[in-house]
Amino acid sequence: MRILLTGADGQLGSCFKKESLLLNQSLLIDYVGRKDLDISSRESVESFFRDKVYDCIINAAAYTKVDLAEEEKDIAFKVNSDGVLNLALAAEKMNALFIHISTDFVFDGRKTIPYKEMDITNPLSVYGKSKLSGEKVALENCSKVIVLRTSWLYSFEGNNFLKTIQRIGIENESIRVISDQIGTPTNANKLVNFIFHLLSLKFDKINEIYNFSDGGECSWYDFASSIIEFSNIVCKVVPIKSEEYPQKAERPKYSVLDKTKLLNDFDFSIEDWKEVLKKEIKRNLN
Ligand SMILES: NC(=O)c1ccc[n+]([C@@H]2O[C@H](COP(=O)([O-])OP(=O)(O)OC[C@H]3O[C@@H](n4cnc5c(N)ncnc54)[C@H](OP(=O)(O)O)[C@@H]3O)[C@@H](O)[C@H]2O)c1
Repeated sequence: MRILLTGADGQLGSCFKKESLLLNQSLLIDYVGRKDLDISSRESVESFFRDKVYDCIINAAAYTKVDLAEEEKDIAFKVNSDGVLNLALAAEKMNALFIHISTDFVFDGRKTIPYKEMDITNPLSVYGKSKLSGEKVALENCSKVIVLRTSWLYSFEGNNFLKTIQRIGIENESIRVISDQIGTPTNANKLVNFIFHLLSLKFDKINEIYNFSDGGECSWYDFASSIIEFSNIVCKVVPIKSEEYPQKAERPKYSVLDKTKLLNDFDFSIEDWKEVLKKEIKRNLN
């Protein structure tokens, strides 16, 4: 099976490379970063695929600067929607499976129980709107496509909340973290493992969205408190309201993803976010 992974230098892409080595996967994976393939350029994408054939394209490339996207709407859409269309068309041409990663930010957060895949979307931010548009073009332009919606992705690769909290926790006696936004952290390596599971299956035709995150739910404050505790950092974590930490882009107040569909359709188990976090921090220390 020949696989192409885009966005290879980002957080998820880097985890993919590392996990693939650890799991000793015998898959043929080509890893391409932005410098090798700019997904937003139709020309570059067409010329890239002119002499290559893949059985699967995994798109981990995205414009992910949530606040800056409010000012850079065109760029966000160019990457997160036009770029996805370019890859979906290439996958369709090759009859390849297209696995595309999306986000909990497609929801407005007005629900109080976990979001199912078919719940009404209503993104609050430009980033969320551009990602929703990407989901639509993927599903409409490819006959073998899986959109994986995930949330609060963290790992020891790239930039993410875990690494930020560890850094500022070491530098400060106390840190203030938002306690009125509820979601679920996702260890990027767990997502990689789920994608490997998908790669072990055969799909003749598929056109589905699946939610993927670790289990349970928490606030950013709870998440930060556990990071500090499991990392043995001495730092007080102070809960604050969203209004006390103004950000350019509005975030959903509640964006927990319901994983029932995934658990029903696949032989894959999901562990509680706290246990996963504890193990991930321990694994990084060893
Ligand atoms: N991080 C989260 O909390 C989170 C939550 C939910 C969903 N997601 C989704 O999960 C996926 C992976 O996220 P991540 O955390 O790995 O993001 P990331 O670390 O920002 O990685 C994204 C990668 O895409 C690259 N990229 C940007 N524009 C590109 C283009 N035009 N062509 C090719 N590559 C381009 C970036 O390169 P540059 O660095 O050079 O720009 C970066 O290496 C994304 O689809 C994201 O929307 C993330």
